[in-house]
Amino acid sequence: MSTLTFGIIKPDAVRAGNHGAIIQKISDAGFKIRGLKLIHQTQKQAEGFYAVHAERPFFGELTEFMSSGPCVVLALEKSDAVPAWRELMGATNPAEAAEGSLRKQFAASIGENAVHGSDSDENAAIEISYFFSKLELV
Ligand code: RTP
Ligand code: MG
Repeated sequence: MSTLTFGIIKPDAVRAGNHGAIIQKISDAGFKIRGLKLIHQTQKQAEGFYAVHAERPFFGELTEFMSSGPCVVLALEKSDAVPAWRELMGATNPAEAAEGSLRKQFAASIGENAVHGSDSDENAAIEISYFFSKLELV
């Protein structure tokens, strides 16, 4: 069944000029883009987005990084979009990411790993509505 997921092209990838190549790979992999915009989050907004990780030791580093520059936020549609997008992204740690995945090609480290993807349909809906209004989704 066709479903939605939420993705971010993180500040490291935008800074390196890799966002165009990543969007091309997303299209080539058969995702339909339902929402797309460039944003620059405050650290507070990043803390809200990653609230589930608030108790983790890397939370400060993570939210500082996510607010360090512009990101591309995406609403993506595909058959089983959540696992399909996580597969295209690759493992959290780029050293463990599969050949052909975005993190293998574009990520430098576990902290600065180029892309984000929702981990469930429920979180995808929450995350899309965190960044997009209804008018911004097609
Ligand atoms: P994401 O949420 O960004 O799509 O990544 P994920 O599901 O693959 O990984 P998750 O466990 O949800 O972690 C969220 C993000 O936190 C950063 N992280 N840093 N320094 C560390 O040990 C560490 N561990 C995780 C990464 O940016 C990860 O994507
Ligand atoms: Mg996650």
